[in-house]
Amino acid sequence: MKIAVAGLGYVGLANAVILAQHHDVVAVDLDAERVGMIDAKQSPIVDPDISEYLASRELRLTATTDAESAYTGADFLIVATPTNYDEELNFFDTSSVDSVLSLAEKCSPAPTVVVKSTIPVGYTADARAQHPDLTILFSPEFLREGRALYDNLHPSRIVVGADPSTREKAEEFAELLRAGSLDADTPVLITGTTEAEAIKLFANTYLAMRVAYFNELDTYASRHGLDTRQIIEGVGLDPRIGSHYNNPSFGYGGYCLPKDTKQLLANYDQVPQTLIKAIVESNTTRKDFIAFDIIDKNPEVVGVYRLTMKTGSDNFRSSSIQGIMKRIKAKGIPVIVYEPTLEGDEFYRSEVVEDLEEFKRRSDVIIANRRSEDLADVADKVYTRDLFGSD
Ligand SMILES: NC(=O)c1ccc[n+]([C@@H]2O[C@H](COP(=O)([O-])OP(=O)(O)OC[C@H]3O[C@@H](n4cnc5c(N)ncnc54)[C@H](O)[C@@H]3O)[C@@H](O)[C@H]2O)c1
Repeated sequence: MKIAVAGLGYVGLANAVILAQHHDVVAVDLDAERVGMIDAKQSPIVDPDISEYLASRELRLTATTDAESAYTGADFLIVATPTNYDEELNFFDTSSVDSVLSLAEKCSPAPTVVVKSTIPVGYTADARAQHPDLTILFSPEFLREGRALYDNLHPSRIVVGADPSTREKAEEFAELLRAGSLDADTPVLITGTTEAEAIKLFANTYLAMRVAYFNELDTYASRHGLDTRQIIEGVGLDPRIGSHYNNPSFGYGGYCLPKDTKQLLANYDQVPQTLIKAIVESNTTRKDFIAFDIIDKNPEVVGVYRLTMKTGSDNFRSSSIQGIMKRIKAKGIPVIVYEPTLEGDEFYRSEVVEDLEEFKRRSDVIIANRRSEDLADVADKVYTRDLFGSD
């Protein structure tokens, strides 16, 4: 089978690798450097399993910038291009997915398109009306960055949305994903496309709610001088709640949770709700509280230790520490940054300090969303809400 993949980020690359174990996969990106790296069997993102699979497994994977030839005659085309939240439109910017669909429609023979990018609820139904000759499915992606391939080798579930006339195609695609994984008994759900879109946004909004909940618990405990850890441990021992995904932070962040919660809120237009809005607002309230708590210490210089969201992450898209940084700078307090993955000596007009020892010396307060051994010798300067050393 020939499979094309559009977009070689976390989602596209993980899916390309899974499928290239048994099929001919042509992966497409606009970015020639990424394409070159795949051809050289190197991963453009930090993901130990992807690096290992590219370097040492027999994969039938090639990469190109020539989308039209890759899509033409492919059995399936997986779309994994970005869908950033557009703050002016108050909706996802789906233009990259739109452009892939338009090009796929012109190809002869045209592929069956499986959208893996996260899209607004209702997008696929509209796209089908606009491209009546294309079969378009939607399969939500649940991977975590840094464990993108692992989460596809061991998926929590495989969901494919189709309409009744394309159900067989959806089953065929689900089987491709299952066969590429290492688990035989993964639950498979074939749903409507709009339901599949809702599954993705409601799942991420639930995760955001959980983060927001333990963060607000921590805000409460901090304000009252209580031990957050004791409270969370006691709460989590109820098996209906559980002692996982409960570590306080500066706010939920990363590429997906902030934008997906806002998109779900936008999809609630005309539908009564209070909770979804509260989840979105809670993240702002949390960042305001954390920034206030830091400013209250009257630091002369605040050091930002890593811009990333999680330990081991290789990017800092929408990380919550950036929101804290902005608030502190708005009060006129100088901020310096230690971020070894950054090139250049400035980040949003804050000095980037390459040398960790110099960074520690010059900072009065060092803020860290997650603890690190790097800071063990300056523990008295460190401000963090990381209590459990987990994500
Ligand atoms: N990152 C995650 O953890 C995650 C998890 C689940 C779902 N998603 C969703 O999957 C989608 C992709 O996310 P990602 O993190 O993999 O993105 P990414 O930014 O890491 O990668 C996207 C890639 O697409 C390429 N691209 C852009 N337009 C293109 C086009 N027209 N043709 C070909 N390539 C194009 C870009 O150059 C880039 O390399 C988003 O909708 C995101 O919400 C992401």
